[in-house]
Amino acid sequence: MQQKTDFLVIGSGIAGLSYALKVAEHGSVTIITKSNEDESNTKYAQGGIAAVLYNGDSHQKHVQDTLIAGAGLCDEKIVKIVVEEGTARVKELIEIGANFDKKPGGEYDLAKEGGHSESRILHYKDTTGYEIERALLNKIHNHKNITVYDHYFAIDIITEHHLGKEVTSKTPDINCFGAYVLNTRTGKTETILAKTTLMATGGAGHVYATTTNPIIATGDGIAMVYRAKGHVRDMEFMQFHPTSLYNPNENPSFLISEAVRGYGGVLRGIDGKEFMSKYDKRESLAPRDIVARAIDTEMKIRGEDFVYLDCRHLDRKGFIEHFPNIYNKCMNSGIDPFKTMIPVVPAAHYLCGGIIVDENAKSTINNLFAVGECAATGLHGANRLASNSLLEAVVFAHRAALLAIKSVKKTEYNQNIPDWDAEGTDNPEEMILITQSKREVQQIMSNYVGIVRSELRLKRAFDRLEILYKENEALYEKTTVSPKLCELRNLICIGYLIIKHAMLRKESVGLHYMVKYEK
Ligand code: FAD
Ligand code: SIN
Repeated sequence: MQQKTDFLVIGSGIAGLSYALKVAEHGSVTIITKSNEDESNTKYAQGGIAAVLYNGDSHQKHVQDTLIAGAGLCDEKIVKIVVEEGTARVKELIEIGANFDKKPGGEYDLAKEGGHSESRILHYKDTTGYEIERALLNKIHNHKNITVYDHYFAIDIITEHHLGKEVTSKTPDINCFGAYVLNTRTGKTETILAKTTLMATGGAGHVYATTTNPIIATGDGIAMVYRAKGHVRDMEFMQFHPTSLYNPNENPSFLISEAVRGYGGVLRGIDGKEFMSKYDKRESLAPRDIVARAIDTEMKIRGEDFVYLDCRHLDRKGFIEHFPNIYNKCMNSGIDPFKTMIPVVPAAHYLCGGIIVDENAKSTINNLFAVGECAATGLHGANRLASNSLLEAVVFAHRAALLAIKSVKKTEYNQNIPDWDAEGTDNPEEMILITQSKREVQQIMSNYVGIVRSELRLKRAFDRLEILYKENEALYEKTTVSPKLCELRNLICIGYLIIKHAMLRKESVGLHYMVKYEK
């Protein structure tokens, strides 16, 4: 079955939805998304969206904070674009109906997070992402040109490769003609032909055993583009959030927002002693890479599985007003934050690297844009500044839309695309092979490619992953496609890219921290 659309959007988080609304006046838009339409990293964003909105703050300060957090590897031109255009994009979110908390006087209640020199985080309680996603979907549902297909899983983008031509990473003009997508309700793989395609598939937290990301975050878009011979970068920079609620039985891990530290929460060891002052003068509000590494070090020195976040001294009423979701979660887990300290551990949270795009979100493949967490714009460098990612997504969704609107006018559908070839494949004999391999990937990545790395650990991870890669490719060749099989394939690809990029970067920088041993 073949369908045609002017604008194909893969993913329904902030990146995909913001872009869809912008292009919808200029042609037909098809959004495909692999789970419920609101399921996304976006939905779980807590802290908020960083933007310069009051006179005491300035674009210059926000640029500077971003550059410092990025440890010298940010693209300064991109940082300026995001910060300077971000204010207008955030105002658009407000115009479409996203609510952000205000003070009694009517001005926005701007919070502070690690690495920010000013209070500039716009938030809706501690459920900012849920609110943004709600507002965007509400607009999407009311637009006649937009169709949302939920429970549709994108397997691969379509390029010249599917017309029998040889395509390599050096091929100069690869074109994207749409995507093969699995309707998970019927089990049929359909062809969507598109004049232009947006990859907005989000992050890849589930390549690690412990993550704050919902289960959709399996790096599908990055893996699809890599397989199609598009270029990726900065994959070694996986950000671990310092404070997820310690509960080994819960996956994903529940996030305790950095805004709680911004509100006065203090990190302490199991002995109750504050320890961040040993590591950084900004203490609990140092940038994330520093805090996560300090926690990791403390846990290793003491042989403990967690540290504490102490909120007992904070104003109870204010805390509950600002963080109702976190408060309820703690109480339901038997932790009253005003009586006991909250046990926390770092968890994989945000992938700074991804699909290489230019300043208009154009990838290295023609007619293929990438926006949001799956893209690498150059904004984050070696470490993302807190609450900069929602901002990045709206800025680049806007820029991608402007260019995509122009490019659909000059592009025709490719009419020669064959249907999905399922010949020689059958249902898997044992699903356990897939679930067990996924666990193995996550264990390899967590044990050897976590917050602290070494050449030896990376080599070991590479060798172990290679075995899984070979096994899974053999399985993929003979098995009917399913989300679980494809996600495993994508996770193996993401793991490989993280390890490969980590091996190439010999020195420690930002989120990539290498220990060296004497020979
Ligand atoms: P997502 O919102 O993850 O959306 C990806 C979409 O793609 C989903 O709809 C998914 O189902 C779909 N998809 C994926 N693969 C496929 C496929 N193969 N086929 C079809 N559909 C597919 N950032 C901030 O700036 N501020 C915060 O306060 C903040 N808090 C966070 C808290 C948590 C717990 C988490 C996990 C992240 C947080 N982040 C925060 C990061 C931020 O939420 C994400 O980076 C951002 O929302 C990513 O948006 P996105 O649109 O790129 O991807
Ligand atoms: C948080 O609320 O701590 C998450 C913010 C972010 O990831 O940007």
